[in-house]
Amino acid sequence: MLESARRTHTCGQLRAEHAGTDVVLQGWVDGARDMGGVVFLDLRDRHGITQVTVDQRSPEAARELAAACRVEFVVEVVGQAVPRANVNDRIPTGAIEVVASELFILNRTKPLPFAPRDDVKASEETRLQYRYLDLRRPALAKSLTVRHQAAQATRRYLDDEGFLEIETPVLTKATPEGARDYLVPSRVHPSTWYALPQSPQLFKQILMVAGMDRYFQIVKCFRDEDLRADRQPEFTQIDIEMSFATRELVMELAEGVARAMWKRILDYDIPAIPRITYDQAMARFGRDAPDTRFGLEHIDILPAVKDTEFRVISGSLEGGGICKAIRVPGGAEGSSRKVIDGWTEFVRRYGMGGLLWGKVAEGKWAGPLGKLADDERAAVAELTGAQDGDLLLVGAGKASTVNAGLGMLRVQVAKDRGLIPAGTFSFVWVTDFPAFDHDEEEDRWVAVHHPFTAPAPEHLHLLDTPERLGEVSSDAYDLVCNGYEIGGGSIRIHDPEVQRKVFSALGISDEEAQEKFGFLLEALSYGAPPHGGLAYGFDRCAMLLCGTDNIRDVIAFPKTTSAQCLMSGAPAGVPVKALGELHVKNV
Ligand code: AMO
Repeated sequence: MLESARRTHTCGQLRAEHAGTDVVLQGWVDGARDMGGVVFLDLRDRHGITQVTVDQRSPEAARELAAACRVEFVVEVVGQAVPRANVNDRIPTGAIEVVASELFILNRTKPLPFAPRDDVKASEETRLQYRYLDLRRPALAKSLTVRHQAAQATRRYLDDEGFLEIETPVLTKATPEGARDYLVPSRVHPSTWYALPQSPQLFKQILMVAGMDRYFQIVKCFRDEDLRADRQPEFTQIDIEMSFATRELVMELAEGVARAMWKRILDYDIPAIPRITYDQAMARFGRDAPDTRFGLEHIDILPAVKDTEFRVISGSLEGGGICKAIRVPGGAEGSSRKVIDGWTEFVRRYGMGGLLWGKVAEGKWAGPLGKLADDERAAVAELTGAQDGDLLLVGAGKASTVNAGLGMLRVQVAKDRGLIPAGTFSFVWVTDFPAFDHDEEEDRWVAVHHPFTAPAPEHLHLLDTPERLGEVSSDAYDLVCNGYEIGGGSIRIHDPEVQRKVFSALGISDEEAQEKFGFLLEALSYGAPPHGGLAYGFDRCAMLLCGTDNIRDVIAFPKTTSAQCLMSGAPAGVPVKALGELHVKNV
């Protein structure tokens, strides 16, 4: 590695064997302790921290400057590495210190809004405003390092597998991935707009038509949607597409990428990844992105209670619905009324009317489920395997609501009861998604993945029967880890006729399809190879690799949940004149 002009080592490099070496270090003052006659400076860069000692062995000038050093001054130290009397086991450089023979203050700092330490108390807003200080914190420097290593491991793996890294446009037309578009007005062509890509989906398919065979790109995508702890308006995908690929091959390649990243960063060998279908995921976990690190699976108890006279259940099931239970082994203990009330409030946020519960004890159940008839209780016990000391949590009602509520409750209960093993990863493929979902509000069918996803070949004939669209499943697959959907993909439609039928099923007229995706339809009609692919959410992978549940921790300059950059102040107003040039008016 070429070193900076004068620096001989980084602040994380020196070890016991460097004792006696003359060194030049440059970095930031992490801490300065003036012990009267001896000044200790902790010198930090993104590689680590080294203790610098300035005492009677150092010249007068260096001692004066050391006494003037403040936290976050930038300094250069010339000196010698010497063994430390009190070895500091907590840092890798703890065996040595550098005795300064020269000291230079390279730059000073204004008073700091906060010191960049990992135990920082400043609010996230303040930290995002001064992101360059926040990024000096070792944890964030580590995140960016992990991200870099994951990107390099990905590139190496895909290069070895014969993939080409190809860039696709950022100023483009809308790609339907289910979110709103970010739009950019054209100056040259009045009243026309570019859309920023929600993904490079259309371009990567066209690259397959172009014969590129195996494509990948680590690429920014833009989606104007509601933000959450694992969602950003601009985020990064590892985008992959392959020609002549079966779903098996795409999944194997995709697993290879994950294995390469986990091995490189954590030296972790991902074991064989199990697969479940979408229907199984919904039945067992209530979610299509299940956290499989712990049990607490959902159990269908409808057969036991479908004729019950217990009003709370029978009322919720009027007009159909589902009734599911979660058995919490040994859960009767540690689940006070307060705890259960908290869980009830929790599921209400997902639209459930309430939560039924029962603490199982010989013959008699405490709680609302005790109101079930004897034979119903016996049947529930049989289905759930409930034993004395267990807690049952039950929801009844519309499938979408009960799944949403109990799906999240499962995770909450596991967190509250400490059932999630730390530092573990549980990957699972979810396959066989439905192709279409019925949007109740708008009374129309929408694509569950995107409209270029191939329907299962055995369901192609159903495309002509609108009332059976709900039965069509697709050749789509998601990779889930610890409850995060980290990647998703599918085999694509390569027959323009099937593509037209899918558009028509989605209520997209021929004209609209032509206007929006005409270039794709046209391309598909010039000898498109069968193809398929997948995209990883790179930021989500980085979150898992860094052990954080906040996506902002793994992005150098993230946006807040209201899509602002607090450092640069984006989004911001622009002069009226600039808008005029773009033929745009503020309303
Ligand atoms: P999809 O929309 O599932 O598929 O996106 C792929 C992966 O990207 C991640 N992701 C996000 N990460 C952070 N912030 C967001 N707002 C966000 N949205 C999505 C998720 C997701 O699994 N073109 C298809 C891929 C394909 O079919 O090949 C696509 O974009 O981890």
